[in-house]
Amino acid sequence: MNKLRSRAWFDNPDNIDMTALYLERYLNFGLSLEELRSGRPIIGIAQTGSDLSPCNRHHLVLAQRVREGIREAGGIAIEFPVHPIQETGKRPTAGLDRNLAYLGLVEVLYGYPLDGVVLTIGCDKTTPAALMAAATVNIPAIALSVGPMLNGWHKGERTGSGTIVWKARELLAAGEIDDDGFIKLVASSAPSTGYCNTMGTATTMNSLAEALGMSLPGSAAIPAPYRNRQEVAYDTGKRIVEMVAEDLKPSDVMTRDAFLNAIVVNSAIGGSTNAPIHLVAIARHMGVELTVHDWQEYGHHVPLLVNLQPAGEYLGEDYYRAGGVPAVIAQLMGQQLIREDALTVNGKSIGENCRGVSIEDEKVIRPFDRPLVDEAGFIVLSGNLFDSSVMKTSVISDEFRQRYLSNPEDPDAFEGPVVVFDGPEDYHARVDDPATGIDAQTLLVMRGAGPVGYPGAAEVVNMRAPAHLLREGVHALPCIGDGRQSGTSGSPSILNASPEAATGGGLAILKSGDRVRIDLKRGTADVLIPAEELTKRRRALEAAGGYAYPDSQTPWQAIQRGMVGDLGAGAILEGGEQFQ
Ligand code: FES
Ligand code: MG
Repeated sequence: MNKLRSRAWFDNPDNIDMTALYLERYLNFGLSLEELRSGRPIIGIAQTGSDLSPCNRHHLVLAQRVREGIREAGGIAIEFPVHPIQETGKRPTAGLDRNLAYLGLVEVLYGYPLDGVVLTIGCDKTTPAALMAAATVNIPAIALSVGPMLNGWHKGERTGSGTIVWKARELLAAGEIDDDGFIKLVASSAPSTGYCNTMGTATTMNSLAEALGMSLPGSAAIPAPYRNRQEVAYDTGKRIVEMVAEDLKPSDVMTRDAFLNAIVVNSAIGGSTNAPIHLVAIARHMGVELTVHDWQEYGHHVPLLVNLQPAGEYLGEDYYRAGGVPAVIAQLMGQQLIREDALTVNGKSIGENCRGVSIEDEKVIRPFDRPLVDEAGFIVLSGNLFDSSVMKTSVISDEFRQRYLSNPEDPDAFEGPVVVFDGPEDYHARVDDPATGIDAQTLLVMRGAGPVGYPGAAEVVNMRAPAHLLREGVHALPCIGDGRQSGTSGSPSILNASPEAATGGGLAILKSGDRVRIDLKRGTADVLIPAEELTKRRRALEAAGGYAYPDSQTPWQAIQRGMVGDLGAGAILEGGEQFQ
């Protein structure tokens, strides 16, 4: 076995002074000299749960079982806090904190006597932050999902996290429920501890952590309160100690093949549009080449198999009972869509782990030959407004298809005049004002919502239609923007436009009334104005000092704004990836 990293702290004959200092302080919490000097691996438990992170809070309970597993396998557990990220509670957006939690975790993993780490993952940004840090420091690491909440119910129907909010908003705007009814309906979606029970960014990223090979097979989908969740916490603790002995590192697991598997799985599960941002970020910190265009190439043709809200009907408990990630991967393996040799944290390949796993409920996970949607992956669009953007095709509703994609001569394209909003506040102030002039042909545009414009990139591009259109039965207008969209939204918006308006992207020169054409087959999004006019507007914008955005409110907002890259490139701190 390689010399343990922690020996440099606790057993360094060349530096007995420092060894003594380190030892006396770590004895403080009750470890004996014998334990610390016996050569047992020291395993960190990166704790993302706290009272401020309710989605991950159950990790405070699970950590006890992780510790027992670590101890059982001969290791010593040291638990430490990770900067809290709570998706819906953090202002201005949790997106701001992914890179901050990443930085903090890198410093802990690098700077303390840890031989391996259990990454406790769950709520949206906690998973990528943890995997990005593990990629950068590259010490043995295993991810443990906290698991989704139990299914939500209201009047005999499943109510899913986040997804129910979009529905409740429409009901409220149309006058069908009051404020009280709104709150009760939304609260019904959260019956237990755990993360969002829909296929939002949390379920997506936890599923993809498993598809990447970074968590134990079958572990991602287990609901938080289930007994098996405790079991897998124990197994995860035991396994990380073995991984340290085997020197099995993130770089052995998170290869390009593993990322391509994750892209394929994301299409089959109907995963979040935040996934391309996070996967590209993890890959860049791992030193693996991966771009947003790989999503089109490897993911678009893959069908939707998992019938979870927002693309489908069911929720987290159903996903688990139907077989979870291994059942999905087994279906994809049958079509040679999975790179089966990719190694996973249990020391076996993904192919060995998933071969022969059957679907337990075909209503929830469809067999490959009876998908919910063919070609369900993202379309990556570019044109004279931006270099890349992402559209989730699995959520295109029949209503949307009929309204915008039913011209027999041009079935994959639509165009219309735009109404442009500068950030979410501008949208909220004007959407229901008749003077804004939105009708059923309008394309809604949101700009100033990218990583620099709205520090961290707001999840605001999926804009609901104005109340007067909702009352007429028009539920979804096409939306385009340089911000993100919640993974729980069922909107087929065109998102993550890069570069963003604030850093010179073309959305900055768009004006309300311009016509924009979207061609899904060709993968283009263009404003239909002459090139000379575009150049004139660009010059005018430059002369005015560029696209204006609000001041930073905290030091971190200002620091991140100075370093962060486009959503299309993972929105990482540019320059930081060189340390991996
Ligand atoms: Fe934390 Fe959805 S808000 S998982
Ligand atoms: Mg989100």
